[in-house]
Amino acid sequence: MTGAALAQGLTPKAAAENRVNRYREVGAAFKTINDQAKSGTLIKMTARIAARTISAAARDQYQWFPAGSGPESGAKTKAKTAIWSDAAGFKKAQTAFAQQSDLMTKAVETGNISAVQTRAKLLGATCSACHRNFREE
Ligand code: HEC
Repeated sequence: MTGAALAQGLTPKAAAENRVNRYREVGAAFKTINDQAKSGTLIKMTARIAARTISAAARDQYQWFPAGSGPESGAKTKAKTAIWSDAAGFKKAQTAFAQQSDLMTKAVETGNISAVQTRAKLLGATCSACHRNFREE
């Protein structure tokens, strides 16, 4: 299940399950880019699909955490309650991620592997920063 429109009509439990699936897609897409960054060879077509997957998730993520979709929803979730109690801090982490994912999409279009390598580090830092504060180990 994908898309902001769909996410809005979901029960809290289904919203939690939906976001876990979306994050898995983000994880797989980011791995595609990181593998290319490590190998030193950009394969523009697959990198572009991966970067767009991440950017689309970054646009939709604001809908993924409706009230009640934490552990109390009954879903298997690692979302920390700080997501709701520190909503401003969480929003900041989401915005940083959105900005870096758009910059990654642009870097891929340049076709320049070293630009992609630089962006991969900066984008990865926004994942880790959010996970550190807002996701259980
Ligand atoms: C603004 C916060 C935030 C950002 C940014 C973020 N994540 Fe996450 N991520 C989470 C939260 C919260 C969860 C736990 C979701 C749940 O279990 O309900 C999660 C879960 C995951 C999961 C686990 C899904 C599973 O199988 O349980 C993966 C993989 C993941 N994120 C990858 C990434 C990658 C890669 C990036 C960066 C490209 C990223 N995330 C950026 C907050 C974030």
